[in-house]
Amino acid sequence: MCESAVAESGFDVIVVGAGAAGMMCAAQAGQRGRRVLVIDHAQKLGEKIRISGGGRCNFTNRRVGPENYLSRNPHFARSALARYATADFIELVDRHGIAYHERNLGQLFCDDSAQQIIDMLRAECEDGRVRFAMPLGIDAIARTDDAINRFAVHTARGTFSCHSLVIATGGLSIPKIGATPFGYRIAEQFGLPMVAPRPALVPLTLPPETLQRFAPFAGSSLEIEAWCNGARFREAALITHRGLSGPVVLQVSSYWQAQAYGGEEWAPVSFNLLPGVDAHAWLTQHAGDRALLANLLAERLPRRFAHAWCALHGWERPMNQFRMPELKAIAEALSDWQIVPSGTQGYAKAEVTLGGVDTHALSSKTMEAAACKGLYFVGEVMDITGHLGGYNFQWAWSSGHAAGQFV
Ligand code: FDA
Repeated sequence: MCESAVAESGFDVIVVGAGAAGMMCAAQAGQRGRRVLVIDHAQKLGEKIRISGGGRCNFTNRRVGPENYLSRNPHFARSALARYATADFIELVDRHGIAYHERNLGQLFCDDSAQQIIDMLRAECEDGRVRFAMPLGIDAIARTDDAINRFAVHTARGTFSCHSLVIATGGLSIPKIGATPFGYRIAEQFGLPMVAPRPALVPLTLPPETLQRFAPFAGSSLEIEAWCNGARFREAALITHRGLSGPVVLQVSSYWQAQAYGGEEWAPVSFNLLPGVDAHAWLTQHAGDRALLANLLAERLPRRFAHAWCALHGWERPMNQFRMPELKAIAEALSDWQIVPSGTQGYAKAEVTLGGVDTHALSSKTMEAAACKGLYFVGEVMDITGHLGGYNFQWAWSSGHAAGQFV
């Protein structure tokens, strides 16, 4: 579908990156009558959309607000999210006849396939007569002295010029499908500040002595509460061969990584293994039992997990052999089990990148760089990182839409 040769060389707008934010921005600008070219080094449009949400794309969330995002500049997202909200994207999805359903916590997924979202964005781009040049890498970008054609984009297929240049190259997660630090390099080239990128929404690895106990039953999952650096989530956790994953762990991983925003370095992550249960009262009720503590815990936790957790703490005795102060300590450990992860599984497994182009240098209305007229950043390349649950796509739609009105 993508043109192999673009005859013209001068455009009103060049968008680099044919992902979620880039296509939304290109479609909007094209539909306003701007001549738009999208350049991407990948073979196919929207590869991350295709693999998202287990192939069904969790394309937005019913309840989206700035509190669902991490950023060094937490209010930045508010304006764009308000101007192009969940309801606007749902209206677009409805207009294209895409069936969807709601899962827990307001998450909206396609009934059939994420490909429908890609096809929808492509159709919107076609409506705006957007041209595509891909696969095509970019050799260099230069600012010119020309007031109309402000940027020269040098590629193996020649030089394209444009009045507005939109960088929509995303973050660093999943390098094998085309993620690169291109956007960060362009920000640096034009003197924009960066917030150091880190993998986020990412599985956590455990120190060897903890991992040894739990790795043998990788695959067990449990509903727990987790918190770190001021944020708290309650969802499922999954034990893996390398540590911990599952929605609650991915959510809290972003906050564990949030030292970039002044959080505590190597802060522990806390887990409440019995959310909604008064652990101390429950243990006290069973204080005289002859059952092992692990067997009691197995009433509410996976059996093998309960045994390993008791072994890790040296609590492998029957209930009636624990004194009251010990039961208090056990209850505290159950409701605030602290682990300092040894690290994360990195960009190969991360859903998103925390950090990016510092939004203090951008307009929250247009996404344009204050210090470089005509240069815009949209989507994940910026220092705006959503929670798990459709929030990252909503940011791609909202920021792409915002810039699309001004480029
Ligand atoms: P995106 O990464 O989509 O697009 C960037 C584009 O730039 C790509 O097409 C890439 O090829 C191109 N590019 C990069 N470097 C380039 C270069 N040097 N030259 C030319 N082109 C270049 N979010 C959500 O809300 N719901 C979900 O269900 C999921 N699920 C999910 C699953 C998995 C496995 C991952 C990895 C991520 C998610 N996400 C998600 C996150 C979501 O996919 C992500 O936040 C958005 O795709 C970001 O959109 P962007 O357009 O900013 O970047």
